[in-house]
Amino acid sequence: MRATVDRAGLDSESRTPHIKIRRVRKGDLSKVRDVTEQAFGDYFERLLGTRPRQVFGGAQYVHHRWLMEPWGCFVAEENDGKIIGAVVAVMWGTVGLVGPLAVLTNYQNQDIGQQLLRAAQEFFDENRAALTGVVTYPSSPRHLYLYHKFGYKPKSLVAIMIRAVDRLPAGGPPRAAKSSLAVRRFSALEESKKKSMLLKVRKITNGIYRGLDLGKEIEIVDGLALGDTFLLESGRELVGFAVVHTPGVSEAPLGSLYVKYLAIDRALRKAEHFDHFLSALEHVAREMGLGRLIVPVYSAYFAAYQTLVERGYQIDYTMVRMKRGKQEDYEDPDDFVLDDWR
Ligand SMILES: CC(C)(COP(=O)(O)OP(=O)(O)OC[C@H]1O[C@@H](n2cnc3c(N)ncnc32)[C@H](O)[C@@H]1OP(=O)(O)O)[C@@H](O)C(=O)NCCC(=O)NCCS
Repeated sequence: MRATVDRAGLDSESRTPHIKIRRVRKGDLSKVRDVTEQAFGDYFERLLGTRPRQVFGGAQYVHHRWLMEPWGCFVAEENDGKIIGAVVAVMWGTVGLVGPLAVLTNYQNQDIGQQLLRAAQEFFDENRAALTGVVTYPSSPRHLYLYHKFGYKPKSLVAIMIRAVDRLPAGGPPRAAKSSLAVRRFSALEESKKKSMLLKVRKITNGIYRGLDLGKEIEIVDGLALGDTFLLESGRELVGFAVVHTPGVSEAPLGSLYVKYLAIDRALRKAEHFDHFLSALEHVAREMGLGRLIVPVYSAYFAAYQTLVERGYQIDYTMVRMKRGKQEDYEDPDDFVLDDWR
């Protein structure tokens, strides 16, 4: 006999149960992580034919993002309080980013993903986002359709690139020939100096996109010791910075040092600066006994992409960036920026 409920998520009379979208509370966090990892795990299994042992290679996205931006995190909850979907959104100053978004497999195609996206969009509107973005799977008609329905236009590819560093020659940190470049850690600054450093960082990001601000990402990495922000300096001048995660409870997969964001000041941009910074980060990874450095690069930043290829970085996989709002194609191909919108 055919079961009356042939699709979980529908009740015994095949009605979609009442779904409530509400903000994430502290007590939801592990459930939100489970739901996200289950939904992505199922998706990867369908895509690849096997289920990865660890869905994001050990990277985590929920707890610290909620601490960083609690008002941007929503769940979809069934009548009985069961969490069946979630979305996480964050404001980087004037730029709003959405993801991860996940709905349990048995509840998909019942408008729940769209209700969650609507909540994220309202959060962006409340915060007057000038531009909002997402990265998704370029070969998935469903994903492209879903975000397009919300006004997001598909743009260029994002390459998640990797370089093995355990085979690099041993030795001290790189020294640039005839240059005064030095790399410091944000965490090593006196508390009173951190605020003024954040202002210098904001000046760099503001030059890339008006109002872009990575302050929250830097503060959460510092506050929770998820990694560190590295500062590339020439004397007292800040040339660039990189927000970097180390494995544990961060967005770094196991065994990898991961660059969440890196930018070289537009006024000081030179391939040598970017190259020097990368080699310093490779050195950090090696010193920590990590096997590889993972860097995301948006292909519109062509000079950065080119430099990475020349340094021996290989593409692990690609995603597509989708955007909605003002100045969608703001990227300058000569800027050295690595920015992960996942
Ligand atoms: C992506 C995801 C969140 C969508 O959630 P969902 O609850 O199924 O989404 P919805 O039901 O609200 O909307 C899906 C839409 O895609 C449409 N769709 C489904 N399959 C499609 C296909 N092959 N081609 C085009 N459109 C498709 C549906 O018809 C629906 O649109 P409609 O309401 O206009 O008819 C969910 O599939 C998921 O969790 N996937 C795994 C994790 C993931 O990939 N997250 C997003 C990463 S960017």
